[in-house]
Amino acid sequence: MSNVRSFTRLTPQEAALHISHGNTVAFSGFANAGAPKAIPRALAARARELHDRGEPFKIRVLTGGSGGADIDEALSRAEAVSWRAAFQSSPTLRSQINRQEVEYVDMHLSHVPTTVSAGFFGKVDVAVVEAVEITPDGRVYLSTSIGASPTFLRCAERVLIEINASHSPRLREMSDVIILSPPPHRNPIPIQGPLTKLGWSYAVVDPRRVMGVVENNEPDDVPPFDQPGAASEQIAEHVVRFLFDEMRVGRIPESFLPLQAGVGNIANGVMAALGRNPYVPPFKMFSLVLQDSEIGLMEEGKITGASATSLTLSPEVLDRVYRHMDFFVPKIVLRPQEIANHPAVVRRLGVIAMNAVLEVDIYGNANSSHVYGTDVMNGVGGSGEFIRNSYISIIMCPSVAKGGRISSIVPMCPHIDSNEHSIQIVVTDQGLADLRGLGPMQRAKAIIENCAHPAYRETLYRYIEESRLGHIRHNLRTCFELHRNLARYGAMLPDLELWDEGEQPKPASR
Ligand code: COA
Repeated sequence: MSNVRSFTRLTPQEAALHISHGNTVAFSGFANAGAPKAIPRALAARARELHDRGEPFKIRVLTGGSGGADIDEALSRAEAVSWRAAFQSSPTLRSQINRQEVEYVDMHLSHVPTTVSAGFFGKVDVAVVEAVEITPDGRVYLSTSIGASPTFLRCAERVLIEINASHSPRLREMSDVIILSPPPHRNPIPIQGPLTKLGWSYAVVDPRRVMGVVENNEPDDVPPFDQPGAASEQIAEHVVRFLFDEMRVGRIPESFLPLQAGVGNIANGVMAALGRNPYVPPFKMFSLVLQDSEIGLMEEGKITGASATSLTLSPEVLDRVYRHMDFFVPKIVLRPQEIANHPAVVRRLGVIAMNAVLEVDIYGNANSSHVYGTDVMNGVGGSGEFIRNSYISIIMCPSVAKGGRISSIVPMCPHIDSNEHSIQIVVTDQGLADLRGLGPMQRAKAIIENCAHPAYRETLYRYIEESRLGHIRHNLRTCFELHRNLARYGAMLPDLELWDEGEQPKPASR
């Protein structure tokens, strides 16, 4: 049981009073899991009250990954955020960022702990961390995410702890916490497999900096994923066939390699399909986030172990995990995000990375984050580190979005998160392009032929023909024509008859 009596017990409203206008506040939480709930909501209510009285109240919000409803949504609706790092996926915050009301630092997530401890973000005034237990000597047993919380607890001047009794106290048996020393004193990270443990089951805080503890009992607010659509199913089919072929020719051993799957509906759908396929042998995950589909696969014996930084599970699935901890504890390791997607470990383990992107250009550069190159969707997240360092890097997207108005294969991406030097395999519902060993023109042909929607292929080929000759052919006058059309007419090819989701497109009769 939690030893909260050693600390001042606070109501969420009292806790919120420890946070002032202009503070940098680091919240626990990663991909909506393990985030404090009552304190940020009370903070949002306080911001509203102060705004009503004409007083300013905005804070700088730092988290390891996305903060979810109680942090990102609640605080942005209260117009209480002035600056945000390092990842978000909240509709309200996203619009405020895109209207430049909030400054957003979109960055590789393994960099967050070092960035914080080196002081690149300035000082952290307050850390607000959800935990299962805190001991009088300052051991903090974290809940469903580790993220960057160990570093926040170490660096923040003041700390508020939200003890959440809805979580299993046995989560500590999954936790493996270490903090890397600053360079040049970093040792190799001796992770030999996804389930290697090398740290402690708790994070540490100086108890004198703990302002108080709030008790809560609310489960994580993780929405269930959409059922995989037709495009996700087709993408999954291509990925599964590819992995099976790689195994057949010996490039993937029969014992298989650890898989990483990104966030979102597509990755979730692909994981579910991989699990169903009898030809894919049981495998392990080395990933950032564990999602619902992966828990199902563990129960079926298809996933035999997983390393992640968060258990981003809908309440029903998390409850299933808590009721069967004897089964799940030996199969899951939760690590700080700095380790969960550390480039050296990803490279050493030979991870196969599968990440969704918004769009990819004909040469294999991908945009995961910025529509039109200007409007952020979520952010690069951990995808960049996996894409760059994996043994096989697969990126995935439906060939078209918004009912065909948008082609996901474009001449040039207006924003690039991962480039042609890191991406090896591009997959859409249309097919798969294996770019390994191909030069730029061969890559363009493979991507257009295999991945672009047929309704857009001619346009993409014409773009190349009308481009300036060079190692990589481009036409700087027309490279963003499809994006310009989209902004102006609401469709990349305005003459194309639009079709409903799921239907086949047909070129317009002119
Ligand atoms: N231009 C504009 N919008 C596009 C688009 C494009 N080229 N491609 C897709 N979209 C829209 C979709 O229409 C959808 O919009 P909606 O929410 O209004 O329906 C939205 O983007 C999400 O696309 P969806 O097809 O549902 O995919 P997803 O849920 O798998 O998300 C990403 C895809 C790229 C947004 C998501 O994977 C992401 O944020 N990736 C970056 C972070 C990351 O990879 N992390 C993984 C490691 S932690």
